[in-house]
Amino acid sequence: MMIPKVRKAVFPAAGLGTRFLPATKAQPKEMLPLVDKPLIQYGVEEAIHSGIQNIIVVTGRGKSSIEDHFDVSFELEQLLESKGKSELLSMVRAISDMIDISYVRQKEALGLGHAVHRAKELVGNEPFAAILSDDVISSETPCVRQLLDVYEYYGASVLALMEVPKEQISAYGVVDAEQVGDNGVGNRLFRIRNMVEKPRPADAPSNLAIIGRYILTPEIFHCVESIEPGSGGEIQLTDALKYMLRNRPIYGLKFEGTRYDAGDKLGFLKATVEFALNRHDLGESFRAYLKNLCIQ
Ligand code: G1P
Repeated sequence: MMIPKVRKAVFPAAGLGTRFLPATKAQPKEMLPLVDKPLIQYGVEEAIHSGIQNIIVVTGRGKSSIEDHFDVSFELEQLLESKGKSELLSMVRAISDMIDISYVRQKEALGLGHAVHRAKELVGNEPFAAILSDDVISSETPCVRQLLDVYEYYGASVLALMEVPKEQISAYGVVDAEQVGDNGVGNRLFRIRNMVEKPRPADAPSNLAIIGRYILTPEIFHCVESIEPGSGGEIQLTDALKYMLRNRPIYGLKFEGTRYDAGDKLGFLKATVEFALNRHDLGESFRAYLKNLCIQ
């Protein structure tokens, strides 16, 4: 059987960003900068570095700065050119040259499953990646690439998994899964048996949470159409995946790398500090500054 190639990545970006108010009142959370790059650009670069060329962003009201960010900025480019700021100019150009991006609107924030479903026409009948840009992952091999390696072997949907402490488990989709042996990725590969969105700690089937990277086969669209609203009254992607389990296998990979929950204020601060420390242009002076702060 020929396993179709994953060519497209969907970025749900229509959420209201309530965890980050007031910063997100008039600005999409996807545009919050980690050091100097908006969150969504980290995700887009991860997709590109994983070999995915075609980006689809699901936006909503008040999200036009995302489109502007990836578009050409004539005025800015002209200004930088006239001032001879060639390094900044090429950085700004690189963003719009990066890739072709399509946009589709989600008129109401009805849930992650609903958001992904909005991309149905643009995705068509082929597998795709879904990337939640508030999960920022730093890793040697891009997380999406790690999932694609599993997908390209099994031809089935694959979810990114991470162990989380019990007291935080209710913030996630949680899986019940059995380890798949002898596959070249140590003991990090699982076959999913069941999953539940945002369980109470006592009801969580494991400590393995779904993180915002998915490879999805196109049956997911029919699955979203077949489910009722779930946790929080929303159409949940986890519920659609659970529905898919009825007649398709789904795999999960404990990916290698560090994940930051940049949609959360503390997670965002941690990511900012660590990304700044790793920057060749800022790291040294930022480290010296932090050392000088007499933190008790
Ligand atoms: C979403 C998903 C959840 C997943 C999480 C990862 O939840 O619904 O299954 O575990 O992303 O970040 P959200 O954070 O949007 O509430």
